[in-house]
Amino acid sequence: MILPELTLSLIKPDAVQKGVAGQIIGRFESEGLRVVACKKLWLTTAQARAFYAVHAQRPFYEGLVAFMTEGPIYALILEGEGAVLRNREIMGATDPAKAAPGTLRALFGDGIERNAVHGSDSPENARIETDFFFSQLERF
Ligand code: CMP
Repeated sequence: MILPELTLSLIKPDAVQKGVAGQIIGRFESEGLRVVACKKLWLTTAQARAFYAVHAQRPFYEGLVAFMTEGPIYALILEGEGAVLRNREIMGATDPAKAAPGTLRALFGDGIERNAVHGSDSPENARIETDFFFSQLERF
């Protein structure tokens, strides 16, 4: 038996500003990923720093934190068989210029930083990232 897996998706400030959050959520659903939790929030600088702490030594860290706090985002928990990999396929490569046609980043991303969506890169990180945004009481 294959157990359903959870993953975290963020719809970033650029995509929310463009008014495509609904399209993105609809795409996840049409691809068979179930929305277990969803909320709109505006990250503080401290929260964005904490979420991306793994990148703290990278040259793009400060720009990434500034971008992720420039407007509201949506956070979602998605569930499905192989959800982590499925979500990454739907998002496409980190750099929208290299993302396959039809992927979310190819459709809605403007550059390697302003790339419309985030998705967990492993089941282990999915657990950490879903717990960062959601309590058990917020998951259905
Ligand atoms: P994300 O999937 O949210 O994970 C880390 C983010 O850092 C990534 O998407 C990009 O938004 C950003 N990022 C990764 N590499 C670079 C880079 N070389 N320059 C600027 N931003 C980057």
